[in-house]
Amino acid sequence: LVAGVDTSTQSCKIVVRDAETGRLVRSGTAKHPDGTSIDPQHWWDAFVAASHEAGGLDDVAAIAVGGQQHGLVALDSEGRVIRDAILWNDTRSAPAAEDLIHELGDGDRDAGAQAWADAVGSVLVASLTVTKLRWLRDAEPDNAARVAAVALPHDWLTWRIAGYGPEGESPLGPRLDALVTDRSDASGTGYYDAEADGGKGAYRPDLVRLALGRDDVALPRVLGPAESGGVAHASVAGADVEGGALLGPGAGDNAAAALALGMTPGDIAISIGTSGVVSAVAPARTADGTGAINGFADATGNALMLAVTLNAARVLDAARAVLGVDVHELADLALAAPPGADGLVLVPYLEGERTPNRPDATGTLHGIRLATSTREHLARAYVEGMLCGLADGLDALRAQGVPIERVMLIGGAAQSPAVQQVATQVFGLAIGVPEPGEYVADGAARQAAWVLAAADDADAPAPAWSTTIATTLDADPRPVVREQYAAVRDLV
Ligand code: XUL
Repeated sequence: LVAGVDTSTQSCKIVVRDAETGRLVRSGTAKHPDGTSIDPQHWWDAFVAASHEAGGLDDVAAIAVGGQQHGLVALDSEGRVIRDAILWNDTRSAPAAEDLIHELGDGDRDAGAQAWADAVGSVLVASLTVTKLRWLRDAEPDNAARVAAVALPHDWLTWRIAGYGPEGESPLGPRLDALVTDRSDASGTGYYDAEADGGKGAYRPDLVRLALGRDDVALPRVLGPAESGGVAHASVAGADVEGGALLGPGAGDNAAAALALGMTPGDIAISIGTSGVVSAVAPARTADGTGAINGFADATGNALMLAVTLNAARVLDAARAVLGVDVHELADLALAAPPGADGLVLVPYLEGERTPNRPDATGTLHGIRLATSTREHLARAYVEGMLCGLADGLDALRAQGVPIERVMLIGGAAQSPAVQQVATQVFGLAIGVPEPGEYVADGAARQAAWVLAAADDADAPAPAWSTTIATTLDADPRPVVREQYAAVRDLV
């Protein structure tokens, strides 16, 4: 058996699967407080609660952790978390991102944007870790001075599972050199170049120095895709497993989902969760100086090209709150209005936006008339607006020459019949909806199985677990929906 963990913005989910077949054996989940900054101790508590609910991990032979990307977990020399982690969806470092872009371009913003894209695959936005380091230096210099190591959420949890942490709170103590990560999550820091050195990848200490004013901080060792970073401590798992459960390198959540879906070039995954993510696997990244596409790495050795919106499932939550309905009623209402909602358009920048990069934007509801003042029109406008934001991401991928052959819709909201149907109209493409699942935890489990296989044979391929596409819908292009959206988006 192997275990895959998803430490996400809202909860910890654990799946235990058969290492050979991928069959789901048990699972557990535990919520923790969400928001844009959080004490990482909540992740640990949720992990303990979720593994308890999953019946314990004593019988698993390997564990890997997937997680929300980018969050800044700053540790002092004693292994203590210096302040609440600042997460991917926290926009306080937007001015810091702009400063760093200008500085790398010697005052020329366009040159700076391109220089970041060339250096690390992405133009900086507030999500990326390096901007949070700069924010810390400027806003909390005392905290910045104490930083001895910088980890990401999944690195930190992996480290704690291995038994490391502050003295008195962990069995093995604060060994900062025992921190490990993988290329996918490292590629979202803004100071790791996954394609350096002929594809081996390397940190860019010069960029850490640019952000923090120094580069004498420990960064997690970047492991290969199926390389084990150590073993889980017996207090967590492995008490019954000889030698302890192997710990995988883990992955960023989007890369873990891509691994679970078995994505190869030509596949597009559109995930509608707390963030909206349009992602594609490609043999190599491109350097998009406009910043719409992040050229991250996947968890196998390819590039993972991503467009990320900050307004996805929560736009639908907002619609439900406004209309006082549940998910089913929202879908029924939206489907009762015509495509285009008779000109009622929502540009859903309810939480600022990242693609396009408008951290301070607010949403706009446009075209409201007596005839469109119905619950049905409003429901439709929310669903269409949210999907139009993602369609902009799909266009940005196209502009980078990324092949689009198969589109898979995942995330909780992908189960909504309204979301599915409107997606075929807004994207103008056929879509497949895989069976509902915990794709991040599943990808981590698949990596754990891969690590286990590689322990016997270093060249073992990733296990060939299959994903079932439960629903397939044909394309039903309705260009008017995007045209009217684009007109309003460009006004605001
Ligand atoms: C990716 C991103 C989000 C988080 C969500 O760049 O910021 O998808 O990983 O967990």
